[in-house]
Amino acid sequence: MADIAVDFAGLVLKNPFIIASSELTNTLEKVKIAEEHGAAAVSTKLAFLHVPFPARPYHIVERNGGFFSPSGERLSVEQAQVLVQQCKEQTELKVIANMMGPGEDLEGWATLGRMLEEAGADMLELNMSCPNVGLMAKQLGVEAPPELGAFLGQNPALAGRVARAVSEAVSIPVMAKMTPEANTRLVSEACATNGAAAVSAINCPQSLPGLDIYRGGRPLYPTVRSQSFAGLCGPWIRPLAYRHVAQIRQALPDFPIAGGGGLMTWRHVVEMVMYGATAVTFCSLLYLKGYKAFAKLEGGLRKFMDEQGYATLADFRGIALPYIVTPDKVDYAGGVPVFDLEKCNGCGLCAAPGHCECIEMRDGLPVLVRPDECYSCAVCYFLCPREAIAMQGGAA
Ligand SMILES: Cc1cc2nc3c(=O)[nH]c(=O)nc-3n(C[C@H](O)[C@H](O)[C@H](O)COP(=O)(O)O)c2cc1C
Repeated sequence: MADIAVDFAGLVLKNPFIIASSELTNTLEKVKIAEEHGAAAVSTKLAFLHVPFPARPYHIVERNGGFFSPSGERLSVEQAQVLVQQCKEQTELKVIANMMGPGEDLEGWATLGRMLEEAGADMLELNMSCPNVGLMAKQLGVEAPPELGAFLGQNPALAGRVARAVSEAVSIPVMAKMTPEANTRLVSEACATNGAAAVSAINCPQSLPGLDIYRGGRPLYPTVRSQSFAGLCGPWIRPLAYRHVAQIRQALPDFPIAGGGGLMTWRHVVEMVMYGATAVTFCSLLYLKGYKAFAKLEGGLRKFMDEQGYATLADFRGIALPYIVTPDKVDYAGGVPVFDLEKCNGCGLCAAPGHCECIEMRDGLPVLVRPDECYSCAVCYFLCPREAIAMQGGAA
């Protein structure tokens, strides 16, 4: 049977599942729920030496559009110390302490790290990626402590200095959490060469939801009358997360990476590992679908591995990377659409795309009327809800 344990920068995890830092991990009770449902590790809620931007959490969910989290209640280092200590005493989980130091004050970062190590943390996660502090303040010209969150994480040199300051101050492994607002390849390399033992990617990109166009552009949502820029998370950012993890893995072939962002099913776990992740993180899955969905991940992953003959995650880690090439090197298989008229229900979606005149609906069924103009874009193939289109006749 498949072995899904991983050695993550020295932390032996019984499975690769880490609950990402959020209000899912801000109390012992919630951390215990994570443990009951099979998590191997938690990253506790963000801790500060001095909490800037005090804010009440609220969320915006557009059913088919996005999950936005603009703010949250952060922990003081004293609160985080109690939480870390309780989690260590009362659970078997590996406890990663998510923390953000005071900008360029490296001694502040080191002090925070030391305090969380003393509390018993197994690993520190340097939050240089939160989109809701620092970045926004800088963009809006707000008077605020300098270089916080994603603003710091956009600066490889500063990120490296922070990684070094904390790594030298503690004896537990240090992980740096990447913002997708940065060149994560450069920032990860800077952290790795300055003592970080791992990186996690990605935190939320900054975003804004839709609005109420009939009420003068106010927020659409019932619980707020104004809004701030907001971290976008959940399935909408998964392709972005895959891209960042793959790019970091290309730069750092053997470095531990916790990959997350929009992972909702065991299949996404497999994809993330194939793009190079060592372990995987979950947040929005739990906000949107709860721990019942989380508990299905392990069975799905194990079944897949057994069926495919993968004994460990290392057997398929990064195997997708050789297929990622520059656009000029893409190996085209070609082909034109061939319709299975038994499966086709004549919905016409394949004939609708505005960039293509190759398919027409005739007597309620699709016909490839201009095969010579078809350039194998395959949009029709992907759009067909009944999988009634095959791309055939190509080079491969
Ligand atoms: C409500 C909420 C609070 C979050 N708080 C933190 C935090 O304190 N520290 C942190 O590093 N990331 C925080 N995040 C980001 C998540 O840890 C995670 O990186 C991000 O949501 C992407 O993963 P997902 O798509 O699985 O949610 C938070 C996300 C949400 C939704």
